Parts: sequence; C-alpha cells; structure tokens
Amino acid sequence: MRVRIKRFSGGVFKTEEFEVDVPEGSTVLDVLFKIKEEIDPTLSFRAMCRASICGTCAVKVNGEPKLACNTKVEGEDLTLEPIDNAVPLKDLIVDQEVVFSRLREGKVWVVPKEGEIGLSAGPLGRASDCILCGICDSVCPSLLEDRAFGGPSFFTKVYRILEDPRDGKGEERLKDLVPFKAQSCVHCNNCNVYCPKGCMPERWIKLIESKLSQKGYIQKRTEDFGFLGF
Ligand code: SF4
Ligand code: SF4
Ligand code: FES
Repeated sequence: MRVRIKRFSGGVFKTEEFEVDVPEGSTVLDVLFKIKEEIDPTLSFRAMCRASICGTCAVKVNGEPKLACNTKVEGEDLTLEPIDNAVPLKDLIVDQEVVFSRLREGKVWVVPKEGEIGLSAGPLGRASDCILCGICDSVCPSLLEDRAFGGPSFFTKVYRILEDPRDGKGEERLKDLVPFKAQSCVHCNNCNVYCPKGCMPERWIKLIESKLSQKGYIQKRTEDFGFLGF
C-alpha cells in the first residue's frame, strides 16, 4: 500500500511517501511501526498501550482524526497527518501539554471526602471513559477561535470530577471554571462525532454551562448558530 505522511521537522511540514506491505486487519499503528522498523527509523509518532487506553496515538487518517491503534487500514492508499488545532513537535507528534495545563489551572482533580464512600456505576456515564487523546479539541471551532475556552476534553474531565461521589469540593469548584468560558461552545457536535470513546463532550459542556448560569457565574449565549448549519 502507498502511505503518505505529513511530517513536521525543523519548523516545516513535508509530505513523504512510503510503499509497505501489511497483512489484512493491520492497524494504522502497525503501518507506522512497520515503516519505522523497516524503512525509516527517524519517523516519529506517539503510542504506548496499543489498546485505546493511553490516549497518545491520535493522528489524522485520510483526513479524519482517529486513534492509530484502533483504526484498521483499508484500500491501497493511506494519508496520515498530525491532528489539527495543536502545536506540532516532530512528524506526527503534537504538544499535549496544553491539555494537561488547562486541567492544572482549573484544579480538575478529586479532593477526597472524609470517611468511607460507596461507589456505584453512578451518573458518570461516558465522561469517565475519556483518555485525554485530544481528538475532540482538534475538531473544535470554538477552541480555534478562543484559546481561553477550556475545550471539550477539559469539560469532559470537569464533569467526571463534578459527579464523582468521592469529591469533597462538589459545586464549590464551579467558580474555578468561570475563566474557561463554557459559554463559548457553539454546540456544533464535532466533539461528539469524533470522540473515539463515545464520551459525548458537548453533552457535559451543556450541563456545566447550565449549572454555571443558574449560579449566576456566566450568562448563557443566546446567538443563533444557524450559520453553522444546524
Ligand atoms: S472526550 Fe473523547 S476525544 Fe476528547 S479527549 Fe476524551 S476520549 Fe479523547
Ligand atoms: S460542541 Fe462545543 S466543544 Fe464540541 S466541538 Fe463543537 S464547539 Fe467545540
Ligand atoms: S496507543 Fe494508547 S490509545 Fe493508541
């Protein structure tokens, strides 16, 4: 198969082509390892678990952001690029630090309650499946327009903590969220469509936005988003 890879190096992008033979059922990650091990050891990409758990292997596959480790290759042509909306570092690797720094700034971690807490499947739903792969942020038009917006990955983690019965901070943490402008989401649904874990980030942003506006921390946007086609 013919594989085109948009590589970043020395401040510029360059597309290179490789010819590889891979068995049926191979993943995009298998192809990347084959190229690295047999053709070009300088090819850089991130991957750890190979099982859709670590969230490090997000790349654009034929134009759509996906996890390389759980995307099977089909046909004879494959085009791979770094995900959008992120700072490229080397070849397919982008800087993920921005995702983690937002979580630190928003203090998005569990502050344990005193005593024993019973856990059940509870209301965390799909938010708890988030692996912080950054795919939702890469397709978010609001994040592209306004870097102060926390973005879908941030609010998915926030919701997961807000609804965690072990968290002692509860809704007190809402005021820490004001700078992250939940009201900037235009509810385009891109994050829900592309999330590889089915986390439905937009749903949690809507809920958080409602909580923040009920408390008087923000004013919900009332613009007509018809220009986006929905
Ligand atoms: S919500 Fe989905 S797409 Fe976004 S970071 Fe989490 S797993 Fe990735
Ligand atoms: S629904 Fe909101 S958070 Fe999700 S991609 Fe669209 S603007 Fe971004
Ligand atoms: S290698 Fe861990 S999610 Fe793909």
